[in-house]
Amino acid sequence: MSEKWINEERLVRALEPVHAGLVPGLCLFEAIDSTNAEALRRLKSMQSSRLPPPMAFIARTQTAGRGRRGREWMSEPDAGLYMSLLRSFDLVPDALQGLSLVVGLAVYEALKTLVGIGEEREGISLKWPNDILYQGCKLGGILLELQRDEALSHVVIGIGLNLDLPPDVDSLLDRPTADLKQITGERVEPVKLVTALLNQLGRDIAVFEEEGFAPFIARWNRVDAYMGKNVRLQQDSKWTEGISRGVDSSGGLLLEPLNDDGVTSHATGEGGLLRFEGGELSPTLRLNEDRE
Ligand code: BTN
Repeated sequence: MSEKWINEERLVRALEPVHAGLVPGLCLFEAIDSTNAEALRRLKSMQSSRLPPPMAFIARTQTAGRGRRGREWMSEPDAGLYMSLLRSFDLVPDALQGLSLVVGLAVYEALKTLVGIGEEREGISLKWPNDILYQGCKLGGILLELQRDEALSHVVIGIGLNLDLPPDVDSLLDRPTADLKQITGERVEPVKLVTALLNQLGRDIAVFEEEGFAPFIARWNRVDAYMGKNVRLQQDSKWTEGISRGVDSSGGLLLEPLNDDGVTSHATGEGGLLRFEGGELSPTLRLNEDRE
């Protein structure tokens, strides 16, 4: 490593053995195509072995950073944190529903601890299923990639967090963005951020492995950017409009549907709520009317 971008020794000392009782192995790169792609390659090379150990892949820059829905994740050197955590579970893929929301909550908690921010009044919130927002602008994103073999489910948990974006970034991206420097007024040290993230992820994933998503529902609903707001959910060419009612015990999004006049319709499933497992959420024009 040419300079102290991340001091590996310092990082190892600060990490807690909370990933299946272990400190994750570390692979640091000055540059790589994508930390998620590297984690998947590593997994493939290990697949003949037993349970792969937890490993974290962190890069200073990515040349082909991957975002959700096949989008590119802009990854200029030092502009963001680019990290992937490889974890393997003795669980079927269905039991892992909700894991990406747990990761979002761990990121939220780590930021709260690290830079003293949190709860909505401070402007940080989560957008279902896995965006981190600051005052409604994108501060970070999460991309989970799953591989299954006969016995285990392997998950690559990719996290991109904006640290210090170039000034012209909004003209390059299709959405408003935020970075941590704008929130704290100074550069957050990557080693501190990685420590807070990996330790919190280990603790939350351990609870999720034992108890599923149910213990996280209240935490999610407290920091949900659109709770009680009018939203539109896009799934391919289909969209549904409704009032966001948070998440259920497996992390599915609950929407109270609206009819064409914007009045709540009751002709739906249990509790009058519709449940969704994927899609792209956005606020609608009726956003400002909060509904209890
Ligand atoms: C999103 O589109 O919101 C998800 C972005 C995820 C980006 C991270 S950066 C580290 C990891 N490696 C990748 O190629 N993507 C994820």
